[in-house]
Amino acid sequence: MDKMIIQGGRRLSGEVQISGAKNAALPIMCSALLTEGWNTYHNVPDLVDIRTIKKLLSSFGAAIEGEGTIRVNAANLTHCEASYDLVKTMRASILVLGPLVARMGVARVSLPGGCAIGARPVNLHIKALQDMGADVELKAGYVEARAKRLRGADIFFDLSTVTGTENIMMAACLAEGTTVLRNAAREPEVVNLAEVLKSMGAMISGAGTDVITINGVDRLHPVEASIIPDRIEAGTFMIAVGMTGGDITLKGCNSLHLEVLINKLRDAGMEITPVAGGLRVARSGSIRSVDVKTLPYPGFATDLQAQMMAMMAVGDGLSVITETVFENRFMHVSELLRMGADIVVQGHSAIVKGIPTLRGAPVMATDLRASASLILAGLAAEGKTELSRIYHIDRGYQSIEKKLSALGADIKRVQA
Ligand code: EPU
Repeated sequence: MDKMIIQGGRRLSGEVQISGAKNAALPIMCSALLTEGWNTYHNVPDLVDIRTIKKLLSSFGAAIEGEGTIRVNAANLTHCEASYDLVKTMRASILVLGPLVARMGVARVSLPGGCAIGARPVNLHIKALQDMGADVELKAGYVEARAKRLRGADIFFDLSTVTGTENIMMAACLAEGTTVLRNAAREPEVVNLAEVLKSMGAMISGAGTDVITINGVDRLHPVEASIIPDRIEAGTFMIAVGMTGGDITLKGCNSLHLEVLINKLRDAGMEITPVAGGLRVARSGSIRSVDVKTLPYPGFATDLQAQMMAMMAVGDGLSVITETVFENRFMHVSELLRMGADIVVQGHSAIVKGIPTLRGAPVMATDLRASASLILAGLAAEGKTELSRIYHIDRGYQSIEKKLSALGADIKRVQA
């Protein structure tokens, strides 16, 4: 299994190109299931999760080609079952449920089960499909949904759910009548998907607010579309500079999607300036400790919580980091402790007392964003950090070690 070896203490400088957003590319590729013919998607990141969704779509009989620009044709679907083997490696596989029932009248998708960051049920996806008239049964670990044609419904999500909103928005495009999604997720990835669906002929309004209205149509047509830049990758590089000091330019990111983070990082003493085609991010002084509470968009992203905690570990005071989106997203704490951090977890909050420097150590990645936080900690630490189980990072960051090396970091991937 590969490892990442990091020698800390290098300041970052230069330019880095931000890749397309994993969490936008995944639902958008699933939306190809709603139509017949070749769909073309540009700016798709090269990631393990993208390879997994390609495998899943081809297991239904869809034709797929390309990398970076990916073409998907779901004209001849032969299977409607997403097997446990694929779903267990990527929970986002649940995103095929809505489109398959809407297009084929039936879908069988393995229940994802829990993961390192919490139980993560899909009850809200299931209830919404039932509200739309689907017959849903749980059999042998699979969700089986059937509906001759889904009908529009007024759906209230108890919690703001990103993939839940996406799944049901896709299903509603081909339903009979009008669907209203209330307490819908407002993430930019939901908006990217809605725009793609609209280009396919869907009638959607309100995406980006918490009430989305979809008037069902009989058919959608193929589309050519682009994936938005990855705000979490961009945020991870911004926090990296906060930790190491230096001055970098993020090319191709969308600063409107990063407003809360930009404000937090400015409060923490960083300089962030919009420049042509991106953002310049710099830190020269010390890091001021700031408090952070994760919330659905436009609040502070839970997918940046672990990275922010690594930065607060070397802040000049006390920071309280509260996780409200997932129940168990503090797996990185015990690894940061191994690097000398002073962090105490109390319920949903972590109290982080900043120290002057972390020390390199062998650490283990437990999930995607935890791996990112440990890489950042390693970049800022004194000495060598050896990060194992890096398959997690490959799920969501395209060539992270190459991008960081080009910015002057001492990081390399080795085969253990
Ligand atoms: N929830 C339920 N029932 C449901 C659905 C969600 O109780 O039916 C709960 C979850 O357990 C969680 C909360 O609602 O406590 C919010 O979960 P959400 O459904 O919004 O998460 P998700 O759609 O499964 C997406 C991203 C995650 C990101 C979250 C929150 C994708 C493919 N995944 O997950 O990304 O953390 O939204 O923003 O879009 C990552 O990229 O590392 C990642 C985990």
